Amino acid sequence: MARRKRSALLPLRIAGTGAFLPAKTLTNEDLARFLDTSDEWIRTRTGIRLRHVLAEGEVPAQMGVAAAGRALAMAGKSAAEVDLLLAATNVPEEPIPGTAPHLAAGLGLKKAPFLDVTAGCAGFLYALALAGAWLRAGLARTALVVGTEAPSRFVDWSDRATCVLFGDGAGAVVLERSAGGSGILGLALRGDPAKLHLLRIEAGGVRLPASGATVQAKKHYLQMEGKGLFRAAVGMMAEATRAAAAQAGLSLQDIDWVIPHQANLRIIEALTKRLGLPEGRVVVNIDRVANTSTASIPIALDELVRAGKVEGGQILALTAFGAGASYGTVILRW
Ligand code: UT7
Repeated sequence: MARRKRSALLPLRIAGTGAFLPAKTLTNEDLARFLDTSDEWIRTRTGIRLRHVLAEGEVPAQMGVAAAGRALAMAGKSAAEVDLLLAATNVPEEPIPGTAPHLAAGLGLKKAPFLDVTAGCAGFLYALALAGAWLRAGLARTALVVGTEAPSRFVDWSDRATCVLFGDGAGAVVLERSAGGSGILGLALRGDPAKLHLLRIEAGGVRLPASGATVQAKKHYLQMEGKGLFRAAVGMMAEATRAAAAQAGLSLQDIDWVIPHQANLRIIEALTKRLGLPEGRVVVNIDRVANTSTASIPIALDELVRAGKVEGGQILALTAFGAGASYGTVILRW
């Protein structure tokens, strides 16, 4: 079969996956106690029933360390073997030095290089591709890619149009070099800065430093043009998926599993329809985790792997969109 012949653009093996969700949960009914919303509205408009949120004092790096620990255990590796750490995240643990050093400290890494990758909710895909290129260049043997995000700390809990959509969580993968034909076969990572106004936090950076006035104006919270994003999302992910499949020399029918960013069930359903994909092959867990941003794809991947559903040689398409607007699709052979 043609799909077995083409060698990987970025050869790699996903040796382990892991995920972590905080213990504290909020149901739609919980939200309806302090917001003008309802379980019915949230379920029918988004597909979400439940989200996990960090408890006071917990931080994103702890979630990342827990997810990474599970991925390393599955891979049968110790943290000491990691020689590249990438943290996909949008709002860091602290502005300087970001999230990756905190993750590295939590994992007990001594000298491995680490960096944050910020590319909206598509950040995990960018980090995966970057790690794949790093391995391919011979600069590392074992890479750890972690998506960790805590939107509960940067949404306005009085804004029903945004806060109901998100949840906290982390997902991780351990990557190693591969000579067996597995790896990234097709890659379409894109950016459309004409859409950068659709999702942003305006204050707290250099453009608009934190001040009493910015806090008063609630500019440290996530602002979103939901309808504009919704309209753009399906087209962006569909185009990137077609392009990545074409680069891989595959048709959409060759794809065994599609793991879309879990932003809204209606977006996932529209994408499924637009691409003519069989529903049972599109992974959905948004009902239980909501939108966990950079963690959404590795959490869904980990669930699929641990359910024993992914077999060697299968083709996976991971697709996402988010702030920037950054978006894209990675096609992998497992
Ligand atoms: O990682 C990427 C991050 N973001 C996204 O992917 C978001 C993409 N966009 C969406 O998922 C959808 O646009 C939303 C779920 C955000 C909104 O759904 P919608 O069908 O586009 O609703 P809408 O914004 O048109 O709002 C319809 C109504 C409005 O009331 P009026 O103006 O019709 O009276 C809203 O005020 O629903 C109201 N509304 C709510 N009502 C109850 C908005 N949020 C809520 C809420 N509960 N939580």
